[in-house]
Amino acid sequence: MNTLILKNISYGIKVKTKKKKVYKELFSNVSLEVKSGEMLAIIGTSGSGKTSLLNIIGGRVASGTISGQVLYNEKKRDPSSYIKQVAYVEQDDVLFPELTVRENMVYSAKLNLSNKKYNENEIMDIVDKYIESMRLGRVRKSLIGSAVKRGVSGGERKRTAVAAKLIKDPKIVLLDEPTTGLDSKTAESVINTIQKFTKSKNVITISTIHQPSATTFKLFDKVLVLAPGGVVYFGSVSKCLNYFSSLGFKCPEYENPTDYFIKLITANTDSEQQQKTDLERIKMLKEHWLQLSEDYIKEISQNRKESSSVNETEEQTVEEDESLCEQNHVSNVEDSHKPWFRKVFEAGKLYCGSIMSEDEENMVECGEPGNTWGKELHILTDRAWLRQRRDRSLIYSYLFISIAAMFGLGFTFFNPGENLEKIQNTTGLIFLITLYLLFLVALPLLLILDAEKKLMKRERSFKLYRVSTFLFALTFAILPILLLTNFIMLTGVYFLAKFQPVFTKYLIYMLIYMSTIICSFSFAVAAISVFPTFQLASVISPLILSVFGIFGGNLINPKNIPPALSWIRFISYFYYSYTAAIKNEFGGMKFNCSNITGQVCYTTGEQVIDAYGDDIMHILV
Ligand SMILES: Nc1ncnc2c1ncn2[C@@H]1O[C@H](COP(=O)(O)OP(=O)(O)O)[C@@H](O)[C@H]1O
Ligand SMILES: [Mg+2]
Repeated sequence: MNTLILKNISYGIKVKTKKKKVYKELFSNVSLEVKSGEMLAIIGTSGSGKTSLLNIIGGRVASGTISGQVLYNEKKRDPSSYIKQVAYVEQDDVLFPELTVRENMVYSAKLNLSNKKYNENEIMDIVDKYIESMRLGRVRKSLIGSAVKRGVSGGERKRTAVAAKLIKDPKIVLLDEPTTGLDSKTAESVINTIQKFTKSKNVITISTIHQPSATTFKLFDKVLVLAPGGVVYFGSVSKCLNYFSSLGFKCPEYENPTDYFIKLITANTDSEQQQKTDLERIKMLKEHWLQLSEDYIKEISQNRKESSSVNETEEQTVEEDESLCEQNHVSNVEDSHKPWFRKVFEAGKLYCGSIMSEDEENMVECGEPGNTWGKELHILTDRAWLRQRRDRSLIYSYLFISIAAMFGLGFTFFNPGENLEKIQNTTGLIFLITLYLLFLVALPLLLILDAEKKLMKRERSFKLYRVSTFLFALTFAILPILLLTNFIMLTGVYFLAKFQPVFTKYLIYMLIYMSTIICSFSFAVAAISVFPTFQLASVISPLILSVFGIFGGNLINPKNIPPALSWIRFISYFYYSYTAAIKNEFGGMKFNCSNITGQVCYTTGEQVIDAYGDDIMHILV
């Protein structure tokens, strides 16, 4: 039997006003107790802090100030073992629309269940068992779908999301508004399925819920009614109506009880007078409950002392517990004061969020996820490839722009000309190819990488995998598409624009540009990682790439760049790529100067290279 107890939990956040940040307490003195096999509903007005409370219980709060205690099995939670026992189903679930119900479950199972403990067949058996128990058998091979592409129904999608989280065999299940957006019958069926799971697996289930029907509401054992600022009721669902009746608030016969409770804790802003009476009522309800809950907390502590005196062998633990009861631990998990570079470096670590440990900054590393590094990479690469195969928009769009660029550049430079014209045209073409491989490879990637970053952050908040494996899997899924589509473009341009027909030159040309593509990919990954928002990344990246282009060697001769700025070209991969391609193409080239009189004529390609600057010669040497 597991128990989860919250004692006098308060939570506050910093809210930005016009001038400064002010501290705002979302709720205070929240106390509750749930045992294995029980379902607790948290209801309350929007913005009262239901999700925040659920995050505190799940150890997922990243900012704000928390005070009070969360005790699991009467002890302070141990971050690494606690997190493993919690399944958290978020309001907006992450399922892959392009994968089927079963595929979504399989990847979730593989990431959640360590390959050190389960083999492939065991994992598949577990998945199939969960599909049956969540009544998803009929749609196991159907795509999840999205707004654009129709897939399974809303209820089935929600049940899949819940099943994908439950597969880790948790002891505590937290659900954030699992029925929002579903009709009342579907909502009831979702809660019914969760209730069966709670009873059969004997887990603690806590769910925030928005306007449940009376039938759905009755499926819960306990309810916590959260008004703005604090609790007005916590206890069994069956006694809830009587409690409010005893205070003079009797639920009308045909009214849905939860609708009625919400009305009781909402201040009507239509008229000032009405608002005043409503606020007074809410205040009275909170104060009344607070008085009762003080007795209730004493009761919990009392019970625990009594039970410990019966069981003398647990004396040591009890002593430890008592100290926990007495101290009122205050934790501050505000991390906005940290400099940005610390946040960037720390993003790579796995944190348990605020779990109220005594760690100085209250962010505790949770240790590594369950799978081995290699297995994790295999699962993530496999998943990334399957997603690319199902949704080919990335492949097709890169193929399209590559072929368009191939014909565009190839035919524009179809006639390279002679001597000076040839030098001008070839340098221009090499400049354009390099420019293309910077801008048109890196910039369209930003949007895709931003979505991947969000996915990674979310999945890593559940401690599913390491950053390194995700990054490698992402590279394996996207980079080959870039290399392959641009290989076609580069080959086409090479022959259409009549570059030197020497195989080694073609090979070096290809290697130079393949490296450029890898640099552009890395640049996009770095930009999305470093900049906090996509908007910022998409504004600053072209700016940086433009600077790379300006100092790249074609627009201004490196010899003429002022010394104070000349270093910039050395951090620009455009410069290396462009000058290497120039050197490759002009190397060994011969010009016929016999017909040219009265103007400068280069007889060899080396002279052309020389004219571009001293350091060009040394790049490939
Ligand atoms: N870490 C945070 N930083 C800033 N504001 C927050 C934070 N957590 C919650 N809030 C704000 O607190 C309020 C309550 O949030 P939430 O817990 O999501 O309420 P509910 O789930 O009941 O609608 C919201 O206005 C939200 O914007
Ligand atoms: Mg919420």
